[in-house]
Amino acid sequence: MVKWLISILVIIQCLVIGEMISPDNANILYSGRIDKSNISDGYYSFSWSGTQIQLTVVNTTSLQVVLNSSGQNLFNVFINSVLTLIVNVTSTTPSGYGLVDYALDPQQEYIVLITHRNEPLCGIVQFYGLIADDGVSVSEYQFQQSRKIEIIGDSITCGYGNLGVNPCPFTPATEDNYLTYGVMTAQALNAEFYIEAWSGKGVVRNFDYPNITSPDTLPDLYPAIIPNNYPNISLWNFQNYQPDVVIINLGTNDWSMPPYPDPQNFVDTYIDFIGYLKNQYSNNPQFFILCGPMISNPCCNYVEMVASKTNSVYIPLQNILNSKNMGCGGHPNYQAHQIMANMIVPIIQDTMNWY
Ligand SMILES: *[C@@H]1O[C@H](CO)[C@@H](O)[C@H](O)[C@H]1NC(C)=O
Ligand SMILES: *[C@@H]1O[C@H](CO)[C@@H](O)[C@H](O)[C@H]1NC(C)=O
Ligand SMILES: *[C@@H]1O[C@H](CO)[C@@H](O)[C@H](O)[C@H]1NC(C)=O
Ligand SMILES: *[C@@H]1O[C@H](CO)[C@@H](O)[C@H](O)[C@H]1NC(C)=O
Ligand SMILES: *[C@@H]1O[C@H](CO)[C@@H](O)[C@H](O)[C@H]1NC(C)=O
Ligand SMILES: *[C@@H]1O[C@H](CO)[C@@H](O)[C@H](O)[C@H]1NC(C)=O
Repeated sequence: MVKWLISILVIIQCLVIGEMISPDNANILYSGRIDKSNISDGYYSFSWSGTQIQLTVVNTTSLQVVLNSSGQNLFNVFINSVLTLIVNVTSTTPSGYGLVDYALDPQQEYIVLITHRNEPLCGIVQFYGLIADDGVSVSEYQFQQSRKIEIIGDSITCGYGNLGVNPCPFTPATEDNYLTYGVMTAQALNAEFYIEAWSGKGVVRNFDYPNITSPDTLPDLYPAIIPNNYPNISLWNFQNYQPDVVIINLGTNDWSMPPYPDPQNFVDTYIDFIGYLKNQYSNNPQFFILCGPMISNPCCNYVEMVASKTNSVYIPLQNILNSKNMGCGGHPNYQAHQIMANMIVPIIQDTMNWY
């Protein structure tokens, strides 16, 4: 154990030729559930889709992002809103990924945004911080949004295959959560977002499961900071983030192929899940329940029933996919995600008076 710890320290020290900005720097803003329990070993962990790391740096000419993963996960690095680096993290070491051919002016402030393109299916990520020049300063992130959204779903919400051209097999490189309806919707509404989504998950039955119910459904995994180790999970503290708007898009996997779930069980379990969420949030958020675009009736009839029984707004998204806007596995590509966002945004604006 001690030997193992020493080797980690050696790896990190070898990477540091400047100054390490630690994950627990108070001026880093995280969006998405973060496990902070292993900071004594130098890292934070996460795996849900869409997790974001944001900070503002000044007085450095270089920057490296240090990440490790139990699988393969890609990240976008935006500098002042320009996509400057795509990082491909695999399970070798904690590796430093630098900005190639991008010299920073030490006099200037840079807003750095790092976004997690993948999802729990692709493994757990460890964030060790950033390496910059000696003397770097991290200033307080100034653009925290006051509106808050949470988005819960399956592969559609993850962005599974949204960069591919159907037919194609899934690879982590074909998925970019930043180009999904959820992120596009939050951006259009100037809202912060947390996303909990995992491909293949259903309300009572996951994709392709040989029974009418299955273990490890999204409602089972949802309370976890990191869902991968279910049932051995740490529970998320809901006080950390109380959304104004909750968007849920589930049911596609339950109803994708036989054996179909019992409709009453599907409806009751979905209603119970929304009840569970309402119990976590004392601020009475508004729920928006989506159905589609990869499924239609009877699933959407039942989802609409759930929406009506929970005083949620129902948003049908069927029949928007065609051969030109399908990504891998018949999923919406990024253009179809934009169509979805364009349907969702005005409904949230009207309901919330968010103009
Ligand atoms: C934290 O460290 C412990 C002990 O090394 C390990 O079992 C656990 O998986 C780690 N947690 C995360 C989220 O990486
Ligand atoms: C990096 O990730 C791999 C795969 O999960 C793990 O075996 C290794 O211990 C990690 N290294 C460190 C230093 O966290
Ligand atoms: C910038 O970094 C240099 C070291 O590289 C340090 O001497 C200087 O004090 C720093 N300036 C500010 C304003 O922090
Ligand atoms: C990421 O790295 C893995 C392992 O080295 C490699 O197999 C894969 O092709 C890379 N993906 C991209 C998009 O660079
Ligand atoms: C199949 O699902 C039913 C209903 O939830 C359950 O009672 C039964 O134990 C399940 N069978 C298996 C083999 O998992
Ligand atoms: C859960 O974690 C504990 C402590 O790390 C470990 O002893 C146990 O085997 C784990 N259980 C499962 C089901 O993974």
